[in-house]
Amino acid sequence: MNSIRLRPLSRLFLALFLTFAAVGNTSAQDVGAAPDVSKEGVAPGATAAATPATAAAPAAGGGDAAAIAAGDALFKGNCAQCHAINDVVVGPALAGISKRRPVSWLIPWIKNSSKMVAAGDEYAVKIFNQYQKQQMPSFQLSDAEVTSILAYITAEEGKGGADTKLTPNSGDNAAVDGTAAANGEADGGKYMDILLIVLVVVLIVLVVTLVIIANIMKDVLRGRKDLDGRDVEILEQRTDWSRLYKSPVLRGIAGVVFVLAVLYTSVQGAMGVGLQQGYQPTQPIAFSHKLHAGENQINCAYCHTSVYKSKSANIPSANICMNCHSQVKTESPEIKKIYRAIERKQPIQWVRVHNLPDLAYFNHSQHTQVGGIECQTCHGPIQNMEVVYQYSPLTMGWCINCHRETPLNTKGNGYYNNLVKLHDSANGAAPFTVSSNGGTECSKCHY
Ligand code: HEC
Ligand code: HEC
Ligand code: HEC
Ligand code: HEC
Ligand code: HEC
Ligand code: HEC
Repeated sequence: MNSIRLRPLSRLFLALFLTFAAVGNTSAQDVGAAPDVSKEGVAPGATAAATPATAAAPAAGGGDAAAIAAGDALFKGNCAQCHAINDVVVGPALAGISKRRPVSWLIPWIKNSSKMVAAGDEYAVKIFNQYQKQQMPSFQLSDAEVTSILAYITAEEGKGGADTKLTPNSGDNAAVDGTAAANGEADGGKYMDILLIVLVVVLIVLVVTLVIIANIMKDVLRGRKDLDGRDVEILEQRTDWSRLYKSPVLRGIAGVVFVLAVLYTSVQGAMGVGLQQGYQPTQPIAFSHKLHAGENQINCAYCHTSVYKSKSANIPSANICMNCHSQVKTESPEIKKIYRAIERKQPIQWVRVHNLPDLAYFNHSQHTQVGGIECQTCHGPIQNMEVVYQYSPLTMGWCINCHRETPLNTKGNGYYNNLVKLHDSANGAAPFTVSSNGGTECSKCHY
């Protein structure tokens, strides 16, 4: 009797196991085949172009002198203002491009890159984003002309070794390496997804197997005659979910947990209204304080010229950047953005990080020049930040706490002489803090 019952069960189990094995197998293949898939899946036009192109490719690789000469002229006429073989100009360095991308991808890309980005081709979108969404123009070139350009690039990169040594350029190499790293990352993410799916499937199979085993054992037990009443009761027992659901204790616990969760999130939300601590917007130019104020030790006030003199610390204009960048890194795509802003007579659109509400009055010179407070006390380790973020909470409590605790910087400041005398005679040893001088009066900070 058991064997009859077992058969459908074991079939079910076998089917599940096979599905599991099949799923595991295809996903493993997916990982290996991913580049091919995107190659074909990309642009509908690509496959049609692929046949003549791949046919032409070996000829190109073989170093057809006429094709290379034609490609040289085409490259200089169409591409050289944005591309070099070994350096990042506006677009990426093109050395090794035939190894990086198949010809069936390159032809539609060079003819109309924005179409491929719009079509959502994975690699196209990635490189487009990596180069700050600058659009490469489309070109009315024939397939043969494009392959001759590629032949020229392949020929040039052959002699490229010497060139790269002449202009060692860590930044540019990093940009190229970045693509590889990004690729690796994307593959890594995919791998994790597959791993998760496999784990879930394994779990399901395990649970099903356990249920099956339990049922088989019950069947075996039912076949036995020597069971007493309690054993039979346990054997026939079923979990009564409806009773669990109706249990007042369980309902109570669930209710309390729910109310606590709602309370917690709303209190957290209310406390965070208007609080911008940690705010770190992406800036239009990848300007790094770590590089300028940290490694190159440029004084804060070289750029933020008014910080010791006036209420607000200014953001430097592009002219200040040009003091150095008319010479330094002139080929970098980020620096080219400064030139473009100057050509167009438009200021660089930096995104403001710190912003007190209008009802509060804060004055930089009062704190930096008179108070002698370091920038880092309020702004944190700016000299280590690649991208600036708001280090302090900038709440009223934050201002007032510091005013209560910080002694006034009275040394060498004649203005305070009499005040210090008065304070000392009235309060003895108590320190003369900002608040002793009225620094916590509402009107000092509120208009
Ligand atoms: C106005 C500037 C500009 C011109 C001209 C230009 N490109 Fe580009 N190119 C780019 C930019 C920017 C990218 C990066 C992708 C993006 O932002 O769309 C790029 C990307 C590429 C890529 C992909 C590189 C990689 O590493 O994957 C290839 C290949 C390429 N261009 C070839 C050409 C060829 C060939 C020409 C000439 C026929 C050309 N480009 C002309 C700006 C330009
Ligand atoms: C080479 C010029 C330069 C130097 C030197 C420099 N900065 Fe800046 N700083 C900028 C520019 C440009 C911005 C706007 C872009 C940004 O936020 O990264 C800025 C932004 C800031 C901001 C954020 C402003 C906002 O939007 O709220 C703070 C704070 C700041 N700098 C502090 C400092 C401090 C402190 C130092 C010295 C340790 C320093 N900076 C040195 C150029 C400079
Ligand atoms: C006092 C000189 C000086 C000033 C002023 C200056 N920089 Fe720089 N900048 C440098 C130096 C030095 C480097 C590092 C160059 C290197 O890595 O070889 C650099 C690098 C950069 C880079 C990285 C370029 C790359 O591709 O690696 C950017 C972006 C940049 N600066 C933007 C700015 C902006 C924007 C301003 C104006 C707010 C500015 N710089 C003002 C000296 C300056
Ligand atoms: C006592 C705290 C404190 C100190 C010290 C301080 N800052 Fe600020 N900083 C602020 C606050 C608060 C704001 C926001 C001001 C606003 O929104 O009106 C700010 C804003 C800025 C801004 C954005 C432009 C502006 O004025 O709103 C820059 C740039 C800046 N600080 C640079 C500096 C530099 C450079 C130093 C050192 C020389 C410095 N800060 C010292 C508190 C401080
Ligand atoms: C790191 C400590 C610190 C923080 C944070 C700070 N202050 Fe101050 N503040 C001082 C000191 C020190 C002085 C006194 C300067 C002096 O006169 O010697 C001062 C003075 C002032 C004064 C002038 C007071 C007077 O008696 O005339 C005002 C107004 C003021 N701060 C506003 C603010 C506001 C608004 C904030 C918050 C956005 C703030 N401060 C945050 C340290 C701080
Ligand atoms: C040392 C400076 C300072 C003093 C003194 C000060 N405030 Fe403020 N206050 C601030 C700052 C900065 C803000 C804005 C911070 C924020 O939005 O979190 C603020 C915000 C406020 C707000 C608006 C709160 C909101 O969330 O919109 C009120 C109301 C206020 N203060 C009342 C007072 C009163 C009343 C006093 C006197 C007992 C006082 N403040 C003294 C700096 C100060």
